[in-house]
Amino acid sequence: MSLKKIVFATNNAHKLEEVRHYLKGQYEILSLQDIGFNEDIPEPYETLQENAQTKSRTIFDRFELDCFADDTGLEVDALNGAPGVYSARYAGHDCSFQDNVNKLLEELKGEENRVANFKTVISLFLDGKEYFFEGRVDGCITKESSGTDGFGYDPIFAPEGNNLTFAEMSLDDKNKISHRGRAVAKLIQFLQKQ
Ligand code: IMP
Repeated sequence: MSLKKIVFATNNAHKLEEVRHYLKGQYEILSLQDIGFNEDIPEPYETLQENAQTKSRTIFDRFELDCFADDTGLEVDALNGAPGVYSARYAGHDCSFQDNVNKLLEELKGEENRVANFKTVISLFLDGKEYFFEGRVDGCITKESSGTDGFGYDPIFAPEGNNLTFAEMSLDDKNKISHRGRAVAKLIQFLQKQ
């Protein structure tokens, strides 16, 4: 039996790996590259919801394929929720993950309140209708980088109740509790009921 195809509107190899891993045997997840879409979809909005929606709507409108897209933000309490929706470009346009990590550690130097959370919003276009799913994980920003797995802020984010950063965990362990894992779990639950 062939698997149902659905586009995940991203070219982030890490995210694809995570979500494919999560949906193994249930869906064939196509990336933007797989469908021959090479343009950059801007994320100009001030909410995760609008950014995610723009990505999935662009693909749905252009290809008429079922599609989902996510947008994620890291909110740090001591920084009034920054970097939030600007997490990808916290250290400036075209910055690396390492630049962002360095900037955040610098901003939090001497700060004892390290409370933070990751939030993911997924926008799904399925058979022409639109749905949203959210996932969140609470935790804290560590004082230094630790671990080499994952991406983004993983080396400095330790989820609540855990001594390890996301970058020190297996993908399986991260997926079980992560913002995206939780949002994807809701998406899957929904898709299974269709
Ligand atoms: P995006 O909009 O979903 O690509 O996420 C924005 C930024 O948040 C990314 O560029 C990463 O820096 C960060 N980010 C998203 N998901 C994760 C994660 O699972 N771990 C660490 N950082 C993440």
